[in-house]
Amino acid sequence: MRDGQQAQPLETDRPTPFDPPIGLRRRAPLSRLAYPDGHLGWVATGHSVTRAILADPRFSTRRELLHQPVGHERAAERPTPAEPGIFPHLDPPEHTRFRRLLSHHFGPRRVAELMPAIQRHTARVLRDLADGGAPADLVSAFAMPIPALVICELLGVRARDRQRIAAATSVMNDLDARPEQVADAVGSITGTVRGALSGGALGSGLLAQAAATGGLSEEELTNLGMVLLATGHLPTGSMLALGAFVLLTDPAQRALLAADPGRAVEELLRYLSILQFDVRRTALVEVEIGGQVIAAGETVVLALPVANRDPGLFPDPDTLDLTRSAAGHLAFGHGVHQCLGQHLARAELRVALTALFERFPDLRLAVPPAEVPTRDRMAVYGVERLPVTWGVVPAD
Ligand code: HEM
Repeated sequence: MRDGQQAQPLETDRPTPFDPPIGLRRRAPLSRLAYPDGHLGWVATGHSVTRAILADPRFSTRRELLHQPVGHERAAERPTPAEPGIFPHLDPPEHTRFRRLLSHHFGPRRVAELMPAIQRHTARVLRDLADGGAPADLVSAFAMPIPALVICELLGVRARDRQRIAAATSVMNDLDARPEQVADAVGSITGTVRGALSGGALGSGLLAQAAATGGLSEEELTNLGMVLLATGHLPTGSMLALGAFVLLTDPAQRALLAADPGRAVEELLRYLSILQFDVRRTALVEVEIGGQVIAAGETVVLALPVANRDPGLFPDPDTLDLTRSAAGHLAFGHGVHQCLGQHLARAELRVALTALFERFPDLRLAVPPAEVPTRDRMAVYGVERLPVTWGVVPAD
C-alpha cells in the first residue's frame, strides 16, 4: 500500500435499491481508491473521463493485470491470464479476431430476425407465469428465463440446461465466491457447451456455425460459448427484474412505458446501470488523463452507475424520467469492448417489459419495496427475488 493508506472496504450498500453503491460515489471525476489486495488504484465516476478511458488503447482488460475492488477471497489471488477464447479479457489485435467473427451474429439485422423468437419465448413465459398463479417471483418466473431461452436458441444449446447455466453464472457473478467455486461454475458451463458441440446439437446455431467455419481451436470455441451463455442472459435478466421493480414502485413512470418503449428502455439502462464493479482497466504505460497521472500497472474501476448520473450530461440525473433522451449513456460501455449483445438486450427489454405490463395490468409488489432482497456484492447488480401478485389476468 502506498502513501500509508489503509484499504477501507468499498461500501457496496445503496441508499435505495436504485441508487449507485455508496462506495462508488465520489466528488472528483477520477479519484484514488484503495483496493482490498493492497493496490492503490483509481475509480472513475465522471462521464467524460470514464468514456475517455474506455476508448484509450493505453488501458488493458487483460485479466492478469486487473485488481479487484470488491471481494477479498478473489482479490487475494493474483489472477491468471484468461484462457483461450475468453475475449472480453483480451486486448486488440487478439480481441479483434473474436469480435469480427461474432459481430454479424449480434448486429441489428440478426436481432430483427430473432424478434419472433423473442416474442414467442416471452409469450410462453408469461402464460406459464399466469398459469402458476399469484403470488410469484418475477426473477425466476420471468426475468431470467426469457434471455436464457433466447441465448440458448441463438447459440444452439439445449434450453433444458438453462437452470444449471443460470446457477453457474450466478456463482461467477458473486464477487465473494471462492476461486474453486468459480472454477467449478465455469466447468459446469463449458461442460454444457462441449456437450452441445460433440452432440452436433442444433446445427443452425451460432456455435455450430462457428465450428463449421473453422479458425478456432476446440478450447477457444468452448470458452467462447461459455462467455456468450453467461453474458447473454444474466445482465439482461437482472435488468428485466430491476426494471420491473422500479416501474412497480413508480406508477406514473410505468404508465409512460408503452408510449415509447425504445426511449424508456434507454432511460432504464442509464438509471439502473447494473454493471457496477467489474468494468475495469489497467494502464499499460503512464497516462495523463482527467487532470491526474495514472502510473503503468494501476487499475481503474469505471463506475458506470455514477458516470450515468453525471449532471453535466443528464439534468436532474437521480430522477427516472422515461420521456428524457438518455443518449450517450455508458450502460453498455464504450470503445472496442462495448457490449456485443446490446441490440439483442434492447430488443429483449422492450418486448418483455411491455408484454409484462400489458398482460398483467394490475401487477403489484407482494412485499414492501424495502423487503425485496438485493444482490449488492456482485459484478452485475440485481435483485435476488421479486415477489409480485395480481388480480385478474386477461386471456392472451
Ligand atoms: C460487454 C453491459 C447484455 C454480451 C459489456 C460491457 C457492458 C455490458 C457495460 C462492457 C464491459 C467492459 O468494457 O469491460 C450489458 C448490459 C446488458 C448486456 C447492461 C443487458 C441489459 C448482453 C447480452 C449479450 C452480451 C444480451 C449477449 C451475448 C457481451 C459480451 C461483452 C459484453 C460478449 C464483451 C465484449 C468485448 O469484450 O468485446 N456488456 N450487457 N451482453 N457484453 Fe453485454
